Amino acid sequence: MAKEQLTDGAAPALVVSHLTKRFGDRSAFEDVSFEVARGEVFGFLGPNGAGKTTTVRTLGTLIAPTSGSAVVAGIPLSAATGAEIRQLISVMPENPGLYVRLTVQENLELFAGLYGLASPGARIAGVLETVNMAPRARDLCGRLSKGLRQRVGLARALLSDPVVMFLDEPTSGLDPVASRDVHDLIASLRERGVTVFLTTHRLEEAERLCDRVAILNTRLLAVGPPEQLRTQLFRSSLVVETAARLPAPEAIFTPEMGVDKWTPDGDAAYVLTVAEPRMAAPRVTRALVAAGADVVSIAVSHHSLEDVYLELVEADPEAGR
Ligand SMILES: Nc1ncnc2c1ncn2[C@@H]1O[C@H](COP(=O)(O)OP(=O)(O)OP(=O)(O)O)[C@@H](O)[C@H]1O
Ligand SMILES: [Mg+2]
Repeated sequence: MAKEQLTDGAAPALVVSHLTKRFGDRSAFEDVSFEVARGEVFGFLGPNGAGKTTTVRTLGTLIAPTSGSAVVAGIPLSAATGAEIRQLISVMPENPGLYVRLTVQENLELFAGLYGLASPGARIAGVLETVNMAPRARDLCGRLSKGLRQRVGLARALLSDPVVMFLDEPTSGLDPVASRDVHDLIASLRERGVTVFLTTHRLEEAERLCDRVAILNTRLLAVGPPEQLRTQLFRSSLVVETAARLPAPEAIFTPEMGVDKWTPDGDAAYVLTVAEPRMAAPRVTRALVAAGADVVSIAVSHHSLEDVYLELVEADPEAGR
């Protein structure tokens, strides 16, 4: 019933407001506020020790915050509401914590029992299929490789058909094929309307999968779609390569062409800072041709999410603590 309420209503999947968790006099995270919409894949990035796992553990009702508040799956987070929230969410921790002397099937049966699932047999078969582990159902978990154990952890997290899933570094230690499988799985969760809170150190993964990302370093440094963070932080630039060095580049790369600034980049290449690459590129090309230059290439240089991350984290006074 609660699941339907959440799917029908317009409430965000997560509302985090001035949330802080301290262990003694060390802050794991401090004054963190953000919202995650329903059905969103939300990336949570940050250096080691930034507080990502502690945030997941807090929002996953495993530990209590020191101060601030949160609403998880439509329910205000408190000691009293923990059990109710846990019905609607699932957490795949950094270490899946499986019973190594039990088989994959037995592990899932155990957890299905703890969740009180109605028809566990069909559900277990379904999640094993989803993570491509059906052929290994009878293997002992202790004998599985790290990546295969990770998949069992994912299968377990899927058992309860959650509306919000917290995945803490789900592709850490996985080979490229297994990582791609996890990416496909996250994409299929999105299609089913599941909200995914994904912590990762793989920035290309976040860039590809996430609608929005947050960058945390004890405090929240930025939140937004990767594209927006890029344009907020970096001016656009064009990279121009010509067959030979230009005799008078300053006569071509002018404000009239839409160029704010330019610097040479090697022998016959130039990086131009522009406000509107789509306007400046054709103008600059025409001016180069008119000046008798042979244009080899002209391209918009693209800042990656990694550029954004490094810029923010390295500029942060908290960095390297
Ligand atoms: N139970 C605990 N007791 C004391 N300090 C803790 C505890 N759990 C986490 N911390 C501290 O809180 C900070 C944040 O840790 P957390 O595990 O959340 O980081 P993380 O962002 O997940 O890092 P990683 O990328 O390495 O997984 C660290 O300084 C860590 O040592
Ligand atoms: Mg962590």
